[in-house]
Amino acid sequence: MRQPAAAAQELNDYIRAFQYSRAILTGIELDVFGAIGNGASAEEVAQRVGADARATEMLLNALAALGIIEKRNGVFLNTEVSSQQLTGEARLALMHTVHLWPRWSTLTECVRAGTAVRHEEIGERGEDWTEAFIAAMHRNALERAPVVVDSVGAAGVRRMLDIGGGSGAYSIAFAQANPELHADILDLPSVAPIAERHIARAGLSGRVKTRVGDLRRDDYGAGYDLVFISAICHMLGPEENVDMLKKSFAALNAGGRIVIQDFILEKDKTAPLIAAIFALNMLVGTERGSSYSEDEYTDWLQKTGFGEVRKIRLPGPTDLMVGRKL
Ligand SMILES: C[S@@+](CC[C@H](N)C(=O)[O-])C[C@H]1O[C@@H](n2cnc3c(N)ncnc32)[C@H](O)[C@@H]1O
Repeated sequence: MRQPAAAAQELNDYIRAFQYSRAILTGIELDVFGAIGNGASAEEVAQRVGADARATEMLLNALAALGIIEKRNGVFLNTEVSSQQLTGEARLALMHTVHLWPRWSTLTECVRAGTAVRHEEIGERGEDWTEAFIAAMHRNALERAPVVVDSVGAAGVRRMLDIGGGSGAYSIAFAQANPELHADILDLPSVAPIAERHIARAGLSGRVKTRVGDLRRDDYGAGYDLVFISAICHMLGPEENVDMLKKSFAALNAGGRIVIQDFILEKDKTAPLIAAIFALNMLVGTERGSSYSEDEYTDWLQKTGFGEVRKIRLPGPTDLMVGRKL
């Protein structure tokens, strides 16, 4: 739903929101929530995270003022939400958002230049960056996969290709829904071992495989009933997307389906809010990426030969675009 025009107070809140966000991100980065454990003084937290005691107390006070943690008689305590969402594996996924901060600081320069000014391909980033990125994707995917599989259906699919499949969560969910289904996950050399860990944990190493490759340069092979492309189109420019869809068409059997999951903008591109803001996330992080509209996806799919093109609205932030090789 479209946002109403911002009132003066709301505008001021938006302008200052980065200060709240930065305080929480620093808490995550330093792992103060893990250090609080079952309750700790500012001095104890500072010692555990290797930070200054005075500054740590200022940070913890601000986090308590925001309601992220509590303070009772000088002792800081996690809330149910902070202990569930800001510690351990959940914290690892949130480190991806911490890593986005330096890029977002270049937004003004990026708007001037028309592209990311500090862009590096995911394969060139450090291991910490990649682990946190894929953990964040995995966390979303675990939530989204049942909805996606339910909506797309796994029946009749014997071979699927998951382009840029990340942690493998979607391929795993499809394979769990259909014991006849075999999936190939095409991803970068730095990511394939992470997917293999998840596949092994799910006991699906026999049917879900990784294929190391480059979705921009490599062909995708042949004989697939389903090509699944989740959270990939937004990191590419329009021409690169058309190229990816052409190669997907070639990889499908007659009657096979393509399923794209992404943030999909409405016609005038000002809603949904999450998709419009995410376009900026792609501006600061990629050379040509953006969020795209239903009209753009429809045009690309139709011109690469797909029929029965339509959008499937899902509950939550992302939708599907589907087509069939007739
Ligand atoms: C936003 S994540 C999406 C992961 C997964 N599809 C999902 O929805 O959870 C993008 C994925 O594309 C992969 N990727 C990025 N550039 C790639 C390239 N040139 N070739 C193959 N995979 C690539 C990344 O490693 C990452 O796993």
